[in-house]
Amino acid sequence: MRIIATDTAAEAGFTAALLVAALVTAQPTAVLGLATGSSPQTLYEALERENVDLRRVRAFSLDEYLGLGHADPESYAQTIRRDVVERLGLDPALVRTPDGLADDPRQEAAEYERSIRDAGGIDLQILGIGSNGHLAFNEPPSAFDSRTRVVELAQRTRQDNARFFRAAADVPTHAITQGLGTIFEARQLLLIAHGEGKAQAVARAVEGPVTEDFPASLIQRHPRATLVLDGAAASRLQPGALATAACGAQLRSRVSP
Ligand code: GLP
Repeated sequence: MRIIATDTAAEAGFTAALLVAALVTAQPTAVLGLATGSSPQTLYEALERENVDLRRVRAFSLDEYLGLGHADPESYAQTIRRDVVERLGLDPALVRTPDGLADDPRQEAAEYERSIRDAGGIDLQILGIGSNGHLAFNEPPSAFDSRTRVVELAQRTRQDNARFFRAAADVPTHAITQGLGTIFEARQLLLIAHGEGKAQAVARAVEGPVTEDFPASLIQRHPRATLVLDGAAASRLQPGALATAACGAQLRSRVSP
């Protein structure tokens, strides 16, 4: 696990963008896993600013609310279309998000899982982290070998995400999410977190026990995981981990001299 701590969220986004740019430069048809939420926004901004060519990448969103259609402004399909596809110039035909209005959500989840496999798997999965340690919508506890499926959202997650909706009661109660097993199979994980509000979750994910009770802790087992944090999100890591962060800073200066 590689931890890169930067001074600001914008710098974290830029650093994360360098990793994405390195992948797509080497592999223009790479398969990306896309995250929503506020955490990856600085990454998407940096990719736009640096004009990284993403026209040929394929992409799969991490999750979608059940009951929201692709035209719904709060749906993740719309968010991804707005914040990623249109802004960064991806081909909409190559980007997929689970259908939150599918007649049979379980079947939709199984088909989604299959389409990721058919695409050859995900090369780089972008991740945020929930304040309760969730990854995508894998709430605690979630099985490490779980696949794309229908899940019930934790109350805390619904509260955290209420800011994106008109009223807290509008936040859906269920979602379709890539499973932890699905996410773990990505060849590279890139988790971005910023702000004091994520510091505790980051510390537990990086230094706590690896347990299904804290889904993000699975990242410790991944052979190629990078965390890009701003100073506030890194603030509760042990001094030893901060030494790793210093190594990350060196790496960052190697990637971007
Ligand atoms: C949502 C998403 C997650 C995301 C998390 C954190 O619940 N399903 O994929 O990582 O929220 O969001 P934010 O980055 O806005 O804090």
